[in-house]
Amino acid sequence: MADVDVAFIQEPPHRPNPSLIQEAQGIPLIDLSCPDVDALVDDVGHACRQWGFFQIINHGVPPDRRHKLEEVASKFFHLSLDEKRKVRRDVRKVLGYYDTEHTKNVRDWKEVYDYAVQEPTLAAASLDEDDDRVAHWENQWPENPPEMREVCQEYAKEMVELGKRLMELIAMSLGLPAGRFEEFLKDPTSTMRLNYYPPCPSPHLTLGVGRHKDPGVLTILAQDDVGGLEVKRKSDGQWVAVKPIPNAYIINVADVIQVWTNGEYESVEHRVMVNSTKERFSIPYFLNPSHYTVVKPLEELTDEQNPAKYRPYKWGKFQLRRKLSNFMKLDTENIQIQHFKV
Ligand code: OGA
Ligand code: NI
Repeated sequence: MADVDVAFIQEPPHRPNPSLIQEAQGIPLIDLSCPDVDALVDDVGHACRQWGFFQIINHGVPPDRRHKLEEVASKFFHLSLDEKRKVRRDVRKVLGYYDTEHTKNVRDWKEVYDYAVQEPTLAAASLDEDDDRVAHWENQWPENPPEMREVCQEYAKEMVELGKRLMELIAMSLGLPAGRFEEFLKDPTSTMRLNYYPPCPSPHLTLGVGRHKDPGVLTILAQDDVGGLEVKRKSDGQWVAVKPIPNAYIINVADVIQVWTNGEYESVEHRVMVNSTKERFSIPYFLNPSHYTVVKPLEELTDEQNPAKYRPYKWGKFQLRRKLSNFMKLDTENIQIQHFKV
């Protein structure tokens, strides 16, 4: 892919207030501080339609907040395995630490720490469609590093704000009122994940994360300067590396938006390559709906010519099924929105 040209970032040539700074063969780079809201909305719409992925700069998240979280993640993952496993997730506590050695997922070369953004998070308690009992997800905060809890929570607040802003821009880009998605996001089941990819002696034998799509609404990812994330380009199916840009965020449309838009904005496959010498950190925020949200194509975006391509499903059941599949073999394969295609 073409490298992002830094000169481009400082001196955008073609429009008085451009928000779309660079695209070429790489994923779009959008300046969120662009004062021309119509241009911004257009560019976000274009990026969602053509790519399903874009990077943003001048997004308003203080670099210091992010830096502190990156430091805390590094301290945590460099603790001993025994120490980290004190906050290990299991079938009852679905959030916390795991290393791939101890789950059925032995393919990915990484360690993870998950925490919920809302404390506690209201989630579905049972896979049974008729059982409306609610579970309360609790976070498992480690004793070390001692500042971890506060730093994680402070950062998550920034993600919530940025997520709201992006959802407004996406709604407007579809010709909908800015607040159209609010009703689905009142009690969000959003989570944050600290990803740690240790150096891998045989990088050609494995991936950091195999090809996948994110199941929720939207993902806001901070990656460090090592690189390794690749996106499957919609136009030709080529894997394109997402070049690290300091302090930028990578945004990707996830499955729920694909369903809401009846396929107009598709969630896109991505994967992570490993590195033989360098460790890598990345921090995604997974913006998710309320557990009781019934996900289905929006009425405004469907009609007789464009009938709904997906059957309605309950987000909470879907999310629980995905979480449980980390620990046990369920009677069905890992559930995907594909299963709700009409
Ligand atoms: C993920 C993911 C990308 C990365 O955690 O879902 O796609 O760069 N991560 O770590
Ligand atoms: Ni992902």
